[in-house]
Amino acid sequence: MAGLGEIVGVLKAAGESTRLRLLALLADGDHSVKDLTEILDQSQPRVSRHLKLLADAGLVQRYAEGAWAYYRLSPAGQGADLARWLIARVDPAAPERRADRARQAAVRTQQQAEAAAYFAQVAQSWDLLKTLHVPEAAVEAAVLGTLAGRTVDLLIDLGTGTGRMLEVLAPAFRRGIGIDSSREMLAVARARLVEAGLNKAEVRLGDIGALDAGVGPADIVVLHQVLHYFDDPGRMLAQARRLLKPGGEIIIVDFAPHSLEFLRTEHAHRRLGLSREQMSGWAAAAGLHVRSVRDFPSDIEDGGLTVCLWYLGDRETMDAPDA
Ligand SMILES: C[S@@+](CC[C@H](N)C(=O)[O-])C[C@H]1O[C@@H](n2cnc3c(N)ncnc32)[C@H](O)[C@@H]1O
Repeated sequence: MAGLGEIVGVLKAAGESTRLRLLALLADGDHSVKDLTEILDQSQPRVSRHLKLLADAGLVQRYAEGAWAYYRLSPAGQGADLARWLIARVDPAAPERRADRARQAAVRTQQQAEAAAYFAQVAQSWDLLKTLHVPEAAVEAAVLGTLAGRTVDLLIDLGTGTGRMLEVLAPAFRRGIGIDSSREMLAVARARLVEAGLNKAEVRLGDIGALDAGVGPADIVVLHQVLHYFDDPGRMLAQARRLLKPGGEIIIVDFAPHSLEFLRTEHAHRRLGLSREQMSGWAAAAGLHVRSVRDFPSDIEDGGLTVCLWYLGDRETMDAPDA
């Protein structure tokens, strides 16, 4: 329920053709102001003004990514309800809407091409690493299995990369947020989430080593192949712990200790795997408890890496013994 003035304000914000087009575009996924300017072929100040009016009325939300600003439809509230009601009534075959969608697709294709150029640079190391892992499918199935069919309200994937964990764990959350410091990885993640129709998940640019207190609180935090990029994984774990609701849980996938020094010198790893003892210590220091740990040895005989899956809980609310 809202006062008449408030409802009139929301209706006025939505009641203009460019703003209605913006709402329809954002129903298809988050966009930067730069993208929206290109799609609408209007000046950036003009598009920003329209977006500000929509945001002030609660129809959309703005979030900053460094020097860029992104917009998305508000996930809940009166503005969100009205936006979704309106968008559902826009004929997708209307010429203006078709043209907008065509330009939106072109902008996304361009972004994927840019991200592909980045991946072309790292493809060699990524492929090599994949051959050193156990089959990804086994680890992914085990990660999903950890949640044992539960569905939680909020899952946060730290160092989300291309958003793979958000896709894998989609059955287990009502809302998912992925955070990563690489624009290129996030461009791929955004495209993949749209392709998978996963509008309950979003990704944001951010440094997970300096997390914004405004993110969360989450039921589950995921750190999948991320901690070995940090000199001090314990500090990172303590930061992750601060994002949790009381009783929340953390899922970590990372390498067991190894001696492949080239991963450090050539592939930006800081730590050569993480041991069970280290993890127990970091967990305890962060007020967490290792509920279970499972190894996935490499199926390669020489030089393979073992992947570990740790499942951590809030120490206050856990009763299982250390693994
Ligand atoms: C090996 S990838 C793993 C991606 C994803 N979790 C997965 O398993 O597919 C590591 C990711 O961590 C991200 N990353 C590294 N340091 C970060 C930081 N300080 N803040 C945010 N993301 C970071 C990288 O950009 C990269 O996408």
